[in-house]
Amino acid sequence: MAAPSEYKPVIIGFLCNWCCYGGADLCGVSRFQYPPYLRVIRLMCSGRVDLEFIFRAFAKKADGVFIGGCHLGDCHYNPEGNYDALGNSLVAKRILENVGVNPERLRLEWVSAGEGIRFAEVMNDFGAKIKSLGPLGSSEGRELPDLQAGLAAATQLVPYFKLVERERFRVSPRTEEGYQKFFAADDFEPLFKELVIDKLTMGRIMGALRSGEESAEAVAQKLGLDPAEVARQLHLLSQQGMVRIDGGQAVPIAVAA
Ligand code: FES
Repeated sequence: MAAPSEYKPVIIGFLCNWCCYGGADLCGVSRFQYPPYLRVIRLMCSGRVDLEFIFRAFAKKADGVFIGGCHLGDCHYNPEGNYDALGNSLVAKRILENVGVNPERLRLEWVSAGEGIRFAEVMNDFGAKIKSLGPLGSSEGRELPDLQAGLAAATQLVPYFKLVERERFRVSPRTEEGYQKFFAADDFEPLFKELVIDKLTMGRIMGALRSGEESAEAVAQKLGLDPAEVARQLHLLSQQGMVRIDGGQAVPIAVAA
């Protein structure tokens, strides 16, 4: 009997040219072992990793996404491109969680060009983590098409998320501790829910309605949301003229192009 084939996850790695990519190169030259299933995309700076890149990677069935940049203070651009990467990854993790993707599938690390061994250690650790989670959707208990629909809704809202990040999530001081504190603060949760999660939930609900779901219960079940929350959002959508509630059924109102 043939042995069951070993699960080989797909991990997309966005590596900054100046540091992490150099670390990966040194890792290879030094013959340190790291997972062969990492697919590397070289970018000039980790700050270039747009939220859309992350959502699209998962929508295309990546099991994990890795972002590697220069150590904080060593970025070659701006000079704080990697702080942008830090903010993006913290926002992305929360959005991923909301659409049903385990946020541990996204990892950000700083690796210098001289840290070949560190690159191997980080990648081996992340590879083992993703292997333990299994294919996208399995540890989440969600169907892949449902996750992809949520990721598509998030991708559509990326320009809006970027605006919110720029205007409302201004972290000061720009230090790693400053970011952790800002995102863990008590007043951040309601702000994030109001500005990001509610908007995303509305987008997901509209997507579910367009795909044929009609009642708040059916939408809630499909999206893994609380029915009361879906009913609240449907009420708001009807007030905004996006949805017509008709005999307990919600019907999206088509907008003329
Ligand atoms: Fe490496 Fe910006 S140049 S993180």
